[in-house]
Amino acid sequence: MKLGVLISGRGSNLQALIDATADPAFPAEIAVVISNIADVQGLERAAKAGIPTAVVDHKAHDGRPAFETALTATLEGHGVRLVCLAGFMRLLTKGFVDHWRDRIINIHPSLLPAFKGLNTHERVLHYGVKFTGCTVHYVRAEMDDGPIIVQGAVPVLPGDTADSLGARVLGVEHRIYPLAVRLVAEGRARVIGNAVNVDQPPGDGDGTANIVVINPAG
Ligand code: GAR
Repeated sequence: MKLGVLISGRGSNLQALIDATADPAFPAEIAVVISNIADVQGLERAAKAGIPTAVVDHKAHDGRPAFETALTATLEGHGVRLVCLAGFMRLLTKGFVDHWRDRIINIHPSLLPAFKGLNTHERVLHYGVKFTGCTVHYVRAEMDDGPIIVQGAVPVLPGDTADSLGARVLGVEHRIYPLAVRLVAEGRARVIGNAVNVDQPPGDGDGTANIVVINPAG
């Protein structure tokens, strides 16, 4: 399955996907990496891996629909079947999301539907919750909303700062994004209503292929 990865910056989740897709047995390949911002680290990561890149600058387009038309043209020009948002920091219109319905996924650094939006780790610490994590979900028109494919949970530890907690969550993001892409590419993450049913592989009787839990010891 051909992937199009949309980024806006550092691209560490992109790197996790690059590393996963380097395995010939992985059921997906990255056809193009698109950034809405030039000169970001993620574009360098893609170029280093020999993956085609494009910059589609939102500021160079007259309004969101024109920007998104250019995104779709670039994605479809590379034969993309699944769009992976990986730190892509632009809101998308219903028109774009509907065009790619069930063919566009996102990673978010919280256990959705809690802590949608920005500054998740600061808010997690403010509310004193004891577990947080990250989510890969199919994208719907509302921000950080849509059927959940995989979640990873980590403890919030005494003395955590937003940075230490964010680093712990990011480590799990890098595990669950390739896992979610694999489940989608294998046709095992089926949307049923507002949820996802993950077909478990033979032998995985406990049905936890899409759940990652990190214990307090890491
Ligand atoms: C990641 O933590 C990702 O979950 C988050 O941005 C970061 C991008 O890092 N995405 C969102 O907050 C989307 N709502 P990366 O560029 O190193 O992958």
